[in-house]
Amino acid sequence: MPIEFNTDPSFAIQQDSSDVLASYKALFHFPKHQGKDAIYFCGNSLGLQPKSVEGAIQIELNSWKDLAVGGYFGGPNPWLYYHELMIPSISKLIGANSDEITITNTLTVNLHLMMLSFYKPDKTRYKILMETGAFPSDQYAVETLVKHFGLNPADAIIEISPKEGKKILETKDIIDTIDQHGSSIAMVMMGGMNYYTGQFFELEKIAHATHEIGAICGFDLAHVVGNIPLQLHQWNIDFAIWCSYKYLNAGPGAVGGIYVHEKWANNTDTQRLGGWWGNDEKSRFKMEKGFHPKPNASGWNISTTPVFNMIGLKASLEIFDLAGINAIRNKSIRLTGYLEYLLTQLPKLSFEIITPTSADERGAQLSLYFKENGRAIHDKMMESGIIVDYREPGVIRVAPAPLYCSFQDVYQFYCILREHF
Ligand SMILES: Cc1ncc(COP(=O)(O)O)c(C=O)c1O
Repeated sequence: MPIEFNTDPSFAIQQDSSDVLASYKALFHFPKHQGKDAIYFCGNSLGLQPKSVEGAIQIELNSWKDLAVGGYFGGPNPWLYYHELMIPSISKLIGANSDEITITNTLTVNLHLMMLSFYKPDKTRYKILMETGAFPSDQYAVETLVKHFGLNPADAIIEISPKEGKKILETKDIIDTIDQHGSSIAMVMMGGMNYYTGQFFELEKIAHATHEIGAICGFDLAHVVGNIPLQLHQWNIDFAIWCSYKYLNAGPGAVGGIYVHEKWANNTDTQRLGGWWGNDEKSRFKMEKGFHPKPNASGWNISTTPVFNMIGLKASLEIFDLAGINAIRNKSIRLTGYLEYLLTQLPKLSFEIITPTSADERGAQLSLYFKENGRAIHDKMMESGIIVDYREPGVIRVAPAPLYCSFQDVYQFYCILREHF
């Protein structure tokens, strides 16, 4: 049932008092503005620090101090298996089996590793389809990959753009482009959500169309994991990668993740670049010749688990387990809907919300495109203790992450726009 929003401040107060996740705000540290907690709408860039992280770091510091190398096998969280501790929680967020997930490296590194496993260009099938305006790191990764294989990016990369005058892509256009290029496409590799527009793509339909032409389908889920619940296994996605420092609140440069569909992950013949942490544990420490990958996604691990770079993720996922991704998503839909409603009540301010209006096609982010004044409005927000970000050209991204943002935070954002612009 659609929610009836209104511009009365009592509406925000009432929504917060009936919010089942309201108490989660207290689990996070906020940056300060004039001695008070700032309002933080930048969780799509770097999530806030869970208060539990400090204690969790202390636990591993103690293991290191007291057990030294013994920490790999002893202590509360033996480091040999540390990355596995996060798999059950991630499995609930992305809808994948535990053998399809591993926690390792950072996003662009994982993207390279996945593409090296799955991109097998030959004379006729060698093209990669991605969206125009994909996150630059993904563009660089694809560009350097095709060059690595001696191909010309201008020929080997197909970029799909929105229709003339539009900012977002239609699923039909993506599928038509896949069909049109057919057997010349080796791989479709797109952002699951575009970082600039906040558009969430129809992953299942794109994967289906990709498989129909015999190609591989992978997604960069940086802006999706922890934001929108997924069913990657059921949707038959071949691979996906993500980072943990946005909605997952794991800290700057925290370790990211890889999903590989079982049909590939369980097959040890699936090509990959190997390292000893991906080798079967039974033979890992025999120090013998010959790489024997684990028969699951952990077979893509390469190096020793960077424990101190994973602690934030482990602590944060405990919060996700408590809250539940469906409750998080339900609140997110209402909160973003409320933000959108309030923005449409600002007749004097000229801007366009370029994020899709349907909740199915977006997460906790609205991108506001200002033909002029974008930078000035961004600066005014920051001066007023509301942290949002600005992306050229002209876009303020506002991301009310439901674990630590409230309806009153959104209302305050609206009040500043109403009063000053
Ligand atoms: C959509 C997207 N892809 C890739 C990256 C790059 O991630 P990393 O620096 O962890 O490789 C980012 C970083 O913000 C991103 O937003």
